[in-house]
Amino acid sequence: MATINKKFYNNETEYSDGSIEDEILNMVKSTDDLEGILINDSRWPVFYHLSYLRENLLNWYPFKEDSNLLEIGAGCGALTGLFCNKVSKVTAVELTDRRSQIIYNRHKNYSNLEIFPGNLNNMEFEEKFDYIILCGVLEYATRFTPTDKPHVDFLKKIKSMLSENGVILVAIENRIGLKYFSGSKEDHVGKGFVGIDNYPNNDDVKTFSRFEIEEVIKEAGFNNYKFFYPYPDYKFPTIIHTDDLIEEIPVLTNAPNHDYQKIKLFNEGNLNLTLSKDNISKYFANSFLVELRNSNDTQQSETVKYSKLSARREKEFRIGTQIYQKDDEILVSKFPLNSTSEKHVEKMHNYSKNDFGKIKCLNSVLENKNLVYHYLDELNLSNILTDLLLKDSTKKQAIDELKNIYDSIEFNSSKKDNYHTPEFSKVFGDEQIDEAMHCHEISNLDFIFNNLFYVNDEIIAIDYEWCFDFPIPIEYIFWRSLNFEYYHNDIFKKLLTIEEIFDDLKLNKEWIPTFKKWENHFMKYVGGPVLPKQKIVTGEQILHDLKHYKKLAKDKEKEIKKLKKQNKKLKKSNSKLEDKLKIMEESTSWKITSPLRNVMKK
Ligand SMILES: C[S@@+](CC[C@H](N)C(=O)[O-])C[C@H]1O[C@@H](n2cnc3c(N)ncnc32)[C@H](O)[C@@H]1O
Repeated sequence: MATINKKFYNNETEYSDGSIEDEILNMVKSTDDLEGILINDSRWPVFYHLSYLRENLLNWYPFKEDSNLLEIGAGCGALTGLFCNKVSKVTAVELTDRRSQIIYNRHKNYSNLEIFPGNLNNMEFEEKFDYIILCGVLEYATRFTPTDKPHVDFLKKIKSMLSENGVILVAIENRIGLKYFSGSKEDHVGKGFVGIDNYPNNDDVKTFSRFEIEEVIKEAGFNNYKFFYPYPDYKFPTIIHTDDLIEEIPVLTNAPNHDYQKIKLFNEGNLNLTLSKDNISKYFANSFLVELRNSNDTQQSETVKYSKLSARREKEFRIGTQIYQKDDEILVSKFPLNSTSEKHVEKMHNYSKNDFGKIKCLNSVLENKNLVYHYLDELNLSNILTDLLLKDSTKKQAIDELKNIYDSIEFNSSKKDNYHTPEFSKVFGDEQIDEAMHCHEISNLDFIFNNLFYVNDEIIAIDYEWCFDFPIPIEYIFWRSLNFEYYHNDIFKKLLTIEEIFDDLKLNKEWIPTFKKWENHFMKYVGGPVLPKQKIVTGEQILHDLKHYKKLAKDKEKEIKKLKKQNKKLKKSNSKLEDKLKIMEESTSWKITSPLRNVMKK
């Protein structure tokens, strides 16, 4: 059983998301199935505190199993369970009692967890810690560390709690993250552009640029540190970059916005691509995860170059990918994110022994439940196709390359009209095409061009994650590759259409609507939690709305003018009538007939 120790608690209540925390407390008291809760409750604070996707920040990190960890400002325990699984002892410090109760009720089954409510600055521990975590906490130092240099002093205090070779992991937003330029509101203050404007009206909660946070780190006495860059941010990351590859594999997506409405002013991916060419995209990463080392020793994490977390899926398919250095080699590992997905990784390894048409899978080995292969730094087929499209305006060379890819997949297949088996339906649904299609007995669905490389003139596939031991039409597999390229490669999208390629390869375009249905069904099969609705409005939309409302205002102004005129006229005629009435009421005949009117009233 986890324990709560209140020896440092002084009734601190200064941090709260409001009464929703009572609801969250009731939720964690009433069930262990938090994923179940999130199916029906997509409110942002509930999702933020309870989603397992928060663990992506550190579920790839090479923690030493036999170690102790201090989590400061553990909030509602979004990461605490992960730490309890990764290390032998976890101490969670959280300012408020209500949040500590949430952590306790959520993770009470972990006997290696002790929770201390209260302010870290009032706490002393006898033991030193191998890991200290500050996730979204350093920003609040001004509030809870009342000194002249709160951030530096808070870090100094924490450094004194660190073991000789220990590390502190600090997750924090970048004050000048790209998403803030393109219209995301500042995460702590909830207003647009105030971070990049250096918080003109705020001395309370704040974050830093890369240079600024380095200054704080150095002043606190650290000179050995490593930056990681979680994308799209440290709250819900899917990619964790490092200086080694951030400019080489730039992130091309936009940061979503779930908590505050975002005015999307431009495509962050396009700008990031430009910044990476100048080697400066790291300065504009949306957030940082900084590893501060107490000594000059290198850490295991030093070898990590890139991690990708594919966790928005059914539990059995959740895996991560890591690129890392081992001696002189650069390797890639595919690792399960839970015990249920170990089988998925094992299956990948088994399927990789097959050829699919002429396409071979890159050789891999299984090492401690992880699949490992070499990192290929050749150009992938997406890069090759893009180059061909750019240098040959007739598009002939690109089409020839696509024909070659199609022929390579189709090689040795046979036409089948009975591929619509129950196994097929389970993954792709019941929609049918009444025509025979080319199939292999064992199929690899995922020949997207990023996953294909020429090695010694042969096409080699990596990421063979979606292999099935039943026939799947190759025409569909090829359409998926085109479809993926179309949505992820602007140049491809600009210069070719899928219909055009289908015509050139003599494939029937009428199959495409059914392929789309199969694809949708496959996405449902892969599954994953629904994210809270995004609140995004584009700059163009705002301008459009502005124009519309200006016109509306003008029309209303005209209407008001007209009504005012009418009003004036009516007032004039009203006063004339009033004058007449007065004359009538004062007349002798009106006065004489008054008794008669009274009788009539009765
Ligand atoms: C933005 S929240 C992040 C919570 C959690 N780390 C997460 O990522 O979900 C910051 C948390 O740090 C806690 N906190 C901030 N300063 C603290 C301090 N000096 N001692 C203890 N807790 C602190 C707050 O109570 C709050 O729960």
